[in-house]
Amino acid sequence: MKNIVVVGAGTMGNGIAHLFAQKGFTVTLTDQSEPALQQAEKTIAKNLQRLCDKEKIDASLMQQTLDRLTYTTTAENAYNSADLVVEAVSENLAVKKAVFEQLSLKTPANCILASNTSSLSIDTLAVFTDRPRLVIGMHFFNPVPMMPLVEIIQGTETTTATVETILALTAILGKTGVLAKDAPGFVANRILLPMINEAITTLGEGVSDVQGIDTVMKLGMGHPMGPLQLADFIGLDVCLSILEVLDNGLNKPHYKPHAILRELVAAGHLGVKSGRGFYDYTQDPKNPTVAYKN
Ligand SMILES: NC(=O)c1ccc[n+]([C@@H]2O[C@H](COP(=O)([O-])OP(=O)(O)OC[C@H]3O[C@@H](n4cnc5c(N)ncnc54)[C@H](O)[C@@H]3O)[C@@H](O)[C@H]2O)c1
Repeated sequence: MKNIVVVGAGTMGNGIAHLFAQKGFTVTLTDQSEPALQQAEKTIAKNLQRLCDKEKIDASLMQQTLDRLTYTTTAENAYNSADLVVEAVSENLAVKKAVFEQLSLKTPANCILASNTSSLSIDTLAVFTDRPRLVIGMHFFNPVPMMPLVEIIQGTETTTATVETILALTAILGKTGVLAKDAPGFVANRILLPMINEAITTLGEGVSDVQGIDTVMKLGMGHPMGPLQLADFIGLDVCLSILEVLDNGLNKPHYKPHAILRELVAAGHLGVKSGRGFYDYTQDPKNPTVAYKN
């Protein structure tokens, strides 16, 4: 496995592309949005420089990583020789359907098609392709270069050989792979998202404010980040999409997205990526101020 295409250059796509390139793969990062690609290129350069400054990588590896990356809105050439495509477009079934239909047409028949979906069914995505045996979930965590886990989701048709290839690849990337069944939200988000939703409910009921809730979970529970700030990092639109999938698939009250989450998404307050969510990141992203007052 040598040539990787990553589709979607948002929060996750840039991290996935960075990781593969740093580990020696030739990577094409593609997105329908030119500004998203430009932003991804800047983010990857900044993150590599930070790793270099902290002496986690040397200047030569930084340069090699940059040299292995190509950014394009039209990845036709890269698709022709792709060994693996990792799809990281928006968490929306219609958007992913269109992408997987195109990937079936444009990539070689033996190219593995992996999705970074947080919650959508791998079996459903596989139906949009000509090769369900080679379709798999490869669920990275944010920020991708730092987080040591990949949840690997085997669909009904995914072959053992495909799973073994992706497990081996995950190890080459320096991550721990954990296998999960194709159930709504898999393991991580099935457990995490109800906590975030409950934090929003707690906020909505006025039990405490944004800072209070996050501080309790950080200092009292040892979480590195409070649930409301974590929601901002994931993206409030992504949180809403995942909760909707969990609500439809598992039908338990704690998966029903809270109205505050819907209101913030409708207002375009999506968290870190839009500059504002429960916190405001526009002045100093490292020290955000509380934006949501209850
Ligand atoms: N944000 C997280 O913490 C996180 C963690 C794990 C997995 N995920 C999953 O990763 C995927 C991407 O999430 P994200 O947070 O990076 O989203 P994002 O909104 O930051 O980025 C999505 C990108 O996809 C692009 N896009 C949309 N339609 C496209 C198309 N047809 N062709 C090419 N590009 C297209 C958009 O322009 C955008 O740049 C989702 O499935 C999400 O559930 C997210």
